[in-house]
Formats: sequence, C-alpha cells, structure tokens
Amino acid sequence: MTTPDQARMNASTTALRQLLPSDTVERGGCPFDPPAGLRQRRAQGAVQQLKLANGATAWLILGAEEARAVLGDVRFSSDRLRHPDVTQANTAPPQVESRSDGMFLFMDPPEHTRLRRLLTGQFTVRRMRALESHIRDIAGRHIDAMLAAGTEADLVPAYAMPIPSLVICELLGVDYADRAVFQERTALALNSTTPPEERLRASGELYGFIRELVAAKRTAPGEDLLSGLARDADPPLTDAELVDIALVLLGAGHETTANMLGLSTFLLLENPGQLAALRNDPGLLDNAVEELLRYLSIIQMGVSRVATESITVGETEIPAGSTVIIGTPEVNRDPRLWDDPDQLDVRRDRTSHLAFGHGVHQCLGQQLARVEMKVGLGELFSRLPGLRLAVPAERVPLRDEMLIFGVHSLPVTWA
Ligand code: HEM
Repeated sequence: MTTPDQARMNASTTALRQLLPSDTVERGGCPFDPPAGLRQRRAQGAVQQLKLANGATAWLILGAEEARAVLGDVRFSSDRLRHPDVTQANTAPPQVESRSDGMFLFMDPPEHTRLRRLLTGQFTVRRMRALESHIRDIAGRHIDAMLAAGTEADLVPAYAMPIPSLVICELLGVDYADRAVFQERTALALNSTTPPEERLRASGELYGFIRELVAAKRTAPGEDLLSGLARDADPPLTDAELVDIALVLLGAGHETTANMLGLSTFLLLENPGQLAALRNDPGLLDNAVEELLRYLSIIQMGVSRVATESITVGETEIPAGSTVIIGTPEVNRDPRLWDDPDQLDVRRDRTSHLAFGHGVHQCLGQQLARVEMKVGLGELFSRLPGLRLAVPAERVPLRDEMLIFGVHSLPVTWA
C-alpha cells in the first residue's frame, strides 16, 4: 500500500483496467457470463493479440490448456520490477533496488520459492480446522445481527465483506479490541470507489497498524500465522518482509472472497432450481463451491505475466517482453474441458478450473476460501429460507469497472 511494489501494484492494476477494451471486461448483458468481447475473440483462437488503449499490444489467453501452459512455465514472469508490463511501457526503467521485501505475489523463483514455502508451512490443517469453527461463528453472528435489524439488508456490508475481513484478523492474530478499526481501514483502503486522498490515508494507517502488529507478535507471539512466521522462519524474516506478507494476504484474501460470496448469492437467487437442489442436499455444497468458482471467475483479466524470452504457446509464438493476460472467465468456459460449459450445474463433477490460477503462484488461500464460501453460503441459505432480492435483478449494481468482478451492493429481504 505504501511500499514501492504495492504502489506499483495498485498503479499497474488500475492502469491495466483502463487500457483494456471495455467489451473484454464489461458484462453488460448477463452479469454471470464472460464479457461478450472475450467470447467473440475466442472464436478466433485460444491465443491472440489484444490491442490496448495506449497502442501497446498484449497477448490474450482464452483456452484452458493454453492458460495452464503459461501459468505453469516460470519463463512467464510475475516480477513487474525486472520485467515491466504494458502498463509501464512509457515509464522510466524500474529500479530493482526499490523492491519491497515480502511481496511474493510479484516475485519469481527462487526468490518466490523461499517465502511461498514458509507460508505453505503455516497454512496447516490444524489451523484451517480451527478457522472453520470461527467462520461458522462469524457467519452466525452476522446473520443474527441482520435478523435483529429488520427484514432487509445490503448483503455486501452486512455479510459478504465482514466474513473474509474477520477471517484475516483471525489468521493474522489481530486483537478483538482492534478489529473494528482494522476492518474500517481495510474497507476504505481496498475499495477503489473511496476518494483517492481518503484511500491513501486509510492505506497509510493500515500499514502503520500492521507494523505495530508485527512488533507485537515479536514480543508476545500467539497461535496465529504471523506469530508462527515470526517464530519459525530460519533464517528469520525481517519486519519489512512480515509486513509485506500480511499485506499480500489481506489484499489477496479479502475482496476476492467477499465478491465470491456476494455474486454467488445473487447467482443462486436468480437460479431457483439450482438453489433448491442445494437446499435439499447440503452434501452438494463442496461441488457447488467449485462450480461457482468456475462459473463466475471473478478475477476478470487480473492474472498476467511477462514473457522473459520468446515462447510458443499452442501454435503461437509469443515474443520476448510481451505481456500475457489470462482471460479467466472465458478460459473457465472452455468447451474442450467442460460439457455444456455455460450451464450452471451444482451437481457437476469437480474438474480443475483456473479460478485460483495454476503453477507456482496458484492461490495460497484456496482451501480457506473454499471453507469461507461453503460455510458462508451454507449458513445463509439454511438460516434464511425466504431469502430473495429486494430489487429487480437489473438494478443490482455490478463491479464492471474493477478487475475483480462482483456486486457493489446486494439488497435482499427474507420477510
Ligand atoms: C474465492 C476467493 C479467491 C480467489 C478467486 C483467489 C484467486 C487467486 C488467484 C487467481 C491467484 C493467482 C494469481 C497469479 O497467478 O498471479 C491467487 C494467489 C494468491 N491468493 Fe488467492 N484467491 C482467493 C482467496 C484467497 C484467500 C482467502 C487468501 C488468503 C487469506 C488468498 C491468498 C492468496 C495469495 C497469498 C496468493 C499469492 C500466491 C503466490 O504468489 O504464491 N487468496 N489467488
């Protein structure tokens, strides 16, 4: 948020969104289907060039096999400092010395491998089990609050946002007394509709908050992941690395899960047959979560790489220095992999989709995200059997302007 990589990350994400042709990101017609431009382009091939608004050319990947080939090949780099992308094409060469310490999402092996291993060691089965009961508790308390407040709510602030936010508090070991401040700052800092000045202030405060949290874990470690990293890493992690790691977890695990919860609820309410199947057989929840991840693919065009040399993908040669963008919503509807891919089917056998990416950067929090969705959706639909939209579907505001798709708000009622 205030470190060089974070500033670069925010700038580059915003810049990329602004450079993309609108038909590749706006889901105009049906909010649950891939943007029309991706479907049309796919008809011309699974790997193809994409002209951006700044005149640069990127490469767009629209097939599942081709996406796996790119994400599974570390010659396609995630390191935007050493390998600038199209959004940085007109800026000065990057200063490698300015690298932030623990932003491993933007590192390549072997630098990435060291931090990723340490993190994987902290995502233990024991810790995930303990988190599941916390998630159930958090979901239950928020449904109680909604019921106590009346018969209508905006599900985004009332339920979808607080769940991942509080789960990250548990993961990082934020004291109960500090959680309201943490949640408020996070919501402001991560919401791109917050006015820029306010967003900057909230980001700075959040950064200071996490620095203090790291210092507290050094002196009085608890059972949380941050304490585990501070205690167990050998050689030890620096404070700057720990702060960055906490910020990566926050940035990667908050908006993603919140939007999956909000958008999945919207989709299921619009598909009463599928929702009824799920209600009749809660054993379908695991399958349903996988299908929702595939079907909705909320990380629109946010997974990208830079080719460090000339590499052939499928039959197409991608020149060295090219930015390669994975068109995940369309990739996850590849008819070569799924029968009837445009059909939502909560009974569909689990197939490996690319909603969590693939390769060395594949989502570190995927098991946690699955539990958050399973518990979050399961509790919501079982405790509120009469749940329905409180406005016509076409009045639900969509997050078309963001690289992470979802709904800005979801007015619901259960009376
Ligand atoms: C449904 C929710 C989620 C989705 C759709 C999602 C999706 C993704 C994707 C596509 C990537 C790969 C990015 C790339 O290859 O450039 C990724 C990476 C990552 N995710 Fe998630 N994610 C979700 C939830 C979470 C949660 C809950 C956490 C942790 C609390 C998390 C932590 C991470 C981290 C740390 C990385 C970077 C891994 C690395 O670079 O090695 N994610 N996620």
